[in-house]
Amino acid sequence: MDSLIETSRLAGTAPDTITISNVNLSLGTGAARVHILKDISLRVGQGETIGLIGPSGSGKSTLLMVMAGLERPDSGEVVVGGTAFNALDEDALARFRGRQVGIVFQSFHLIPTMTALENVAVPLELAGHAGAAERAARELEQVGLGHRLHHYPTQLSGGEQQRVALARALAPDPAILVADEPTGNLDETTGRQIVDLLFTKHAERGMTLVLVTHDSGLAHRCDRVVRLRSGRIEADGGTHEPADA
Ligand SMILES: Nc1ncnc2c1ncn2[C@@H]1O[C@H](COP(=O)(O)OP(=O)(O)OP(=O)(O)O)[C@@H](O)[C@H]1O
Ligand SMILES: [Mg+2]
Repeated sequence: MDSLIETSRLAGTAPDTITISNVNLSLGTGAARVHILKDISLRVGQGETIGLIGPSGSGKSTLLMVMAGLERPDSGEVVVGGTAFNALDEDALARFRGRQVGIVFQSFHLIPTMTALENVAVPLELAGHAGAAERAARELEQVGLGHRLHHYPTQLSGGEQQRVALARALAPDPAILVADEPTGNLDETTGRQIVDLLFTKHAERGMTLVLVTHDSGLAHRCDRVVRLRSGRIEADGGTHEPADA
């Protein structure tokens, strides 16, 4: 790994955190079977931010799940932080996810019977982190929820729930953070606050960030925008439109 970092430094590029090679994935059975991801190859540099855009049904969420190790491709390879997912069984993959991958969903996915503190602390405990409760409280304070530790999700606003979800995703200090339309269920002002928080956290911690969004303005805050269409990468480029566009 050191030599990889060194080689990359010499080449003037960041080492990859995510390398996806020739990934194909179909889901569903019988007539409902869909070939969703079609020969996808993508490299994401360490600390890079990627805006993943494309029409509804183009495979954005599915690709995110593949990166996060929540879906296994039918063929091809996914390597995150030097670990090849193909080499891991389900338990090892779950452990890897618990430590290295933070995930934020549009609909928050908090556990309704747990307080904000428990929602953040329990996954930390399960991943074997020491001092989970203290760490969870610190993380919640950092997203401005130090005064809401013992509230249940239904007692929190949408923006507050998403901040809990963000604290939960960030608490293990993951190498990568994937976010699937994290502002999709929020009003514009609250959504902007969540996005600002996301980029502030990225600036502080330098994790690799892959952000699925329908908002092209938001996508263009990322280092690079990748566009999917019908399960293929249609465009993979910088954030700036060509001068003659
Ligand atoms: N479990 C499944 N079985 C069959 N087809 C599926 C399954 N999950 C997703 N699909 C199909 O795969 C395609 C890609 O879905 P995906 O959720 O990745 O799209 P998306 O780009 O995230 O869309 P959106 O912007 O609407 O969230 C869709 O056509 C969807 O119907
Ligand atoms: Mg989606």
